[in-house]
Amino acid sequence: MTSVPNDPPTERSVSAGESRSQTTSEGASTPIVSVDGVTKRYQLGGTVTALDDVSLSLDAGSYTAVMGPSGSGKSTLLNLVGGLDTADEGSVRVADDDLGAASESRRAAKRGTDIGFVFQTFNLMPRLTAVENVALPLVFDGWDRTERLDRARTVLDDVGLGSRYDHKPNELSGGQRQRVAIARALAPEPSILLADEPTGNVDTETGAEIMGLLSEIHERGNTILLVSHSRRIAEHAEQIVHVRDGLIEEIEDVSETTPDSDVGTGRRGR
Ligand SMILES: Nc1ncnc2c1ncn2[C@@H]1O[C@H](COP(=O)(O)OP(=O)(O)OP(=O)(O)O)[C@@H](O)[C@H]1O
Ligand SMILES: [Mg+2]
Repeated sequence: MTSVPNDPPTERSVSAGESRSQTTSEGASTPIVSVDGVTKRYQLGGTVTALDDVSLSLDAGSYTAVMGPSGSGKSTLLNLVGGLDTADEGSVRVADDDLGAASESRRAAKRGTDIGFVFQTFNLMPRLTAVENVALPLVFDGWDRTERLDRARTVLDDVGLGSRYDHKPNELSGGQRQRVAIARALAPEPSILLADEPTGNVDTETGAEIMGLLSEIHERGNTILLVSHSRRIAEHAEQIVHVRDGLIEEIEDVSETTPDSDVGTGRRGR
């Protein structure tokens, strides 16, 4: 197996599975994510329309941030793209697969291979070491144990945690935990990385490190879809999708914007 993070985008695009057929040699212009007319309602003491006829198309190799007030539907959108949930109306296609039509197990497998997911709260397995956490999703991909652990060490090296292989989550700092979570998401060579408030639980400096890491991952050819409350975080992306009350209000091009180096994470000051 090749080591993804060090491979150039064009090699990666053909190195690992069907989804890479979506990535052109130039790395962009073919949609890898197509959200088409999606409505998502929750029934809980009345009906909440979390997303209301939303359409969004993401090119392979693009970097997009989703911003909006609390409760506007950002996580709902990410969860649908990540196959954690299904739409009530409309379709969500990711790397050639219609997630609405896919079975639960097919969506789970896709999440283990084509789609990497990073959460605000890291969601690591507390009893497993860093290496074991990162190796976990590779079980879906049919790697043997030795290959899985080798691959996990390589990805941990790539995110700067080569000296923390055998630490459990509670023996790591918040920023290190998030880097383990990013390594876990990257281990199966996904073509798309989804990150919901990845800097929400870390300090400003660590937030800047994590955003630097995401930018590197993007430069290596991955498609990134990131949710953030912070404009300064969102400006690391090429475009910002502004969401309000379950609707896309505006898609703003920020590809020419240089993000402030003091990345806002909600905890200001240093
Ligand atoms: N599982 C659920 N059951 C019922 N309602 C839900 C559920 N998940 C989300 N909602 C509702 O859907 C709406 C959108 O929620 P969502 O989590 O997508 O918001 P968000 O933009 O991510 O907010 P935040 O910035 O606070 O994370 C909210 O009104 C929320 O209360
Ligand atoms: Mg949310």
